[in-house]
Amino acid sequence: MMTRKTRIAVFCSGNGSNFKALFEAIRNKQLPAEIVLCISNRSQCGAMEFAQQNGISTLHITEKQFASFDEFAETMVERLKEHQIDIILLAGYMRKVPDAVVAAFPDRMLNIHPALLPKFGGEGMYGIHVHTAVLEAGETETGATVHFVNEEYDKGEILLQRTVPVLPDDTPETLAARVLECEHRLYPDALEKLLALRRS
Ligand code: GRF
Repeated sequence: MMTRKTRIAVFCSGNGSNFKALFEAIRNKQLPAEIVLCISNRSQCGAMEFAQQNGISTLHITEKQFASFDEFAETMVERLKEHQIDIILLAGYMRKVPDAVVAAFPDRMLNIHPALLPKFGGEGMYGIHVHTAVLEAGETETGATVHFVNEEYDKGEILLQRTVPVLPDDTPETLAARVLECEHRLYPDALEKLLALRRS
């Protein structure tokens, strides 16, 4: 019997380079999954454009479009159900995911963070701030982490982690580029691991 492919929604706010890496890896590694929905708090961004160009449904949804936060959260859950989403991958989504959505996807939502959690995570630790903090702390290595999402920022169980060196002449920007390149290989590997876990 053919089992149906795992249906994925990615949440993005920016370039979507991780989204693109995931999309390509699913094809190249022939993973039993497909990205069927891109959700963003921005109507236009690299991720939304990529989705449109590749026939992936898009949903621009923000709290501002609704009378209350609860209505926003409920609508998000409804849309995810309509698209029969099995797992959610956060890839540079710059908003906190509503608790109602987290609750609807227990152990079925991942995030990627550009550091070795539990170090350099939590409120305010995003983008270039993370790499600046790593350099200021004098770390000799950093990396990326894929973790399950729960109601607490960057605190869910770690699924996969990989290190990269911090070089003596690094700036936050050179370090960010090295970590991002690592993320592009790590996230597909973490997805593969999650798919295997779900099918075992
Ligand atoms: C990545 O560094 C990711 O770890 C962080 O946001 C960035 C997103 O980049 N959460 P992109 O949109 O995937 O290019």
